[in-house]
Amino acid sequence: MVTAGVVGATGLVGETMIEIIQDRSFPVSSFRAFASERSEGQKVRFLGAEYPVEIITPETLCKGMLLFGATSADVARMWVPACRRSGAIIIDNSSAFRMDPSVPLVVPEVNGHHLDGTEDLIANPNCSTIQLVVTLGPLSEMGRMQWVSVATYQAVSGAGREALDELSMQQRGHVAPEGSVRLHENVVTSIGDPASDGYCEEEVKLMKETCKIMGIEIPIYASTARVPVRTGHTEAVTVRFDEPVDARKAADILRSAPGLTLSEHGAAPLDSEGTDSVIVDRLRVNPADSRALQFWVIADNLRKGAALNAVQIAEVWLAAAEKGGRR
Ligand SMILES: NC(=O)c1ccc[n+]([C@@H]2O[C@H](COP(=O)([O-])OP(=O)(O)OC[C@H]3O[C@@H](n4cnc5c(N)ncnc54)[C@H](OP(=O)(O)O)[C@@H]3O)[C@@H](O)[C@H]2O)c1
Repeated sequence: MVTAGVVGATGLVGETMIEIIQDRSFPVSSFRAFASERSEGQKVRFLGAEYPVEIITPETLCKGMLLFGATSADVARMWVPACRRSGAIIIDNSSAFRMDPSVPLVVPEVNGHHLDGTEDLIANPNCSTIQLVVTLGPLSEMGRMQWVSVATYQAVSGAGREALDELSMQQRGHVAPEGSVRLHENVVTSIGDPASDGYCEEEVKLMKETCKIMGIEIPIYASTARVPVRTGHTEAVTVRFDEPVDARKAADILRSAPGLTLSEHGAAPLDSEGTDSVIVDRLRVNPADSRALQFWVIADNLRKGAALNAVQIAEVWLAAAEKGGRR
């Protein structure tokens, strides 16, 4: 059993984490909820009881606690190092520590076996990365990958509660605030700030995180966009291998891979909402290039793209710690 806390408990990911921790009967002996001073006084329900939302500060005492982080990267940089020093174990959803070489970046189906239960900080990847690598992991059995091309169609909930509320208001006729991008009836082709090389932040995350998790150094050609969908990220993926590939063999591999569902009928983000599986659809080999496998990948960005993956990391970490006699 662990003493658990969710930091960012009032946000979209935090709320989903609380739901999933309960649904999967993750062994929690006591629970705390944290957020900013804006939420002080609010109550969060966990296993039938109400818990007050506490403010997290670098002085918060959390020795021995397992903390699920669901705050922005800037906020995570404020509390994670201090809570880690005070003896907490942290699984953080923000981008703050993902590319730190000393911090494991984990998708259990792909590299969870590297965890040994001694880690005190584990990073949860970006939502668009998770669903991609759940698919690329098993496909690496097909042969050496030369490059991956991915174009994303990302739901607005991926940008947090404020963005989702803004989309709802725009759907009711509210005009986008001056200087901000219209979400409703639009496609926003840059997620996060563009760097000097023209790639936006989301593209850089997708490219770097994919290579770190897979332990490979190949070109990932990423183009990311926000679309006016509430929940469920969609990705159009091409993987080019060294040798010609067989779509039926790829389907067999994916059918037996963990965390995946194979669809053949045009799955959509609405099919993924509230579900745990990453959906792969319309797997095909390019008629002009027998080495290029193409498919769609769809997943609930709040569940497998964030909260579910974090709880699965906790499950793997706890099993490894118990096996090593550390808990
Ligand atoms: N949404 C997704 O699909 C997704 C997927 C993968 C990763 N992530 C990452 O997960 C994190 C959370 O995302 P989200 O979508 O849940 O965002 P969100 O809905 O905006 O929630 C943010 C949470 O952070 C809390 N917070 C803000 N300032 C704080 C402070 N100073 N101290 C403590 N807590 C503070 C907020 O509390 P208040 O309510 O008190 O403001 C709220 O609980 C982000 O790093 C995001 O990039 C999100």
